[in-house]
Amino acid sequence: MKTVLKVKLLVIMLFFTALIYQNSTPYAQNPQKIDDALTVIYRRKSVRKYLDKPVSREQLTVLMKAGMAAPTAADKRSWAFVAVTERAVLDSLAESSPSGKMLRQAAAAIVVCGDTRRALNSNVWTQDCSAASQNILLAAEAIGLGAVWIGIYPEYFKYNHVRRTLGIPMEVIPLNIISIGWPTGAKKPKQKFDPDNIHWNEW
Ligand SMILES: Cc1cc2nc3c(=O)[nH]c(=O)nc-3n(C[C@H](O)[C@H](O)[C@H](O)COP(=O)(O)O)c2cc1C
Repeated sequence: MKTVLKVKLLVIMLFFTALIYQNSTPYAQNPQKIDDALTVIYRRKSVRKYLDKPVSREQLTVLMKAGMAAPTAADKRSWAFVAVTERAVLDSLAESSPSGKMLRQAAAAIVVCGDTRRALNSNVWTQDCSAASQNILLAAEAIGLGAVWIGIYPEYFKYNHVRRTLGIPMEVIPLNIISIGWPTGAKKPKQKFDPDNIHWNEW
């Protein structure tokens, strides 16, 4: 075999070895992947203005898969999600809260609910569902979508409105509505790091 061909083969083999290594190495040993996660975390911001462009079921499924990757107390997975893309339903959900008007422009929403029948105890579902919600917000940022958490629970008039709009059973409580759409690009992340909020070893 000619030397040039041998070198070419070697380069191709090295490329694929590097690719396999990159995709199989845990985050802790792979600084590139740590960077990727932190980049998304620092770039996330609440987005309330959207382009007039649909969000697909596949994209919403990616977000809910990210939600279900979150930790839950005793691995009870007390969450349930209602994905909404119908205009009339989004408009009705916009009436759930005075601070939920952006749903009128949103292409989609995910209502994150706690199924109290599955939760470890009567209070912990809010924590399970908050972890899932944050994962959804980060996944939205990661795939280029804009999203914002609209607080629903614990105000009865808000969660009762959501429950009635979506036909959610009594044992299931909506924690929030995550409003989703394609960002206009205007919103920038806030710089929130404050060393005064950090204590080492004692308060
Ligand atoms: C529990 C909770 C409830 C929130 N409720 C609302 C809401 O009802 N409407 C809204 O526009 N934003 C809401 N937000 C988003 C916050 O306003 C936002 O996260 C905060 O201003 C910080 O801005 P950032 O997300 O861009 O960093 C909520 C966030 C959380 C965590």
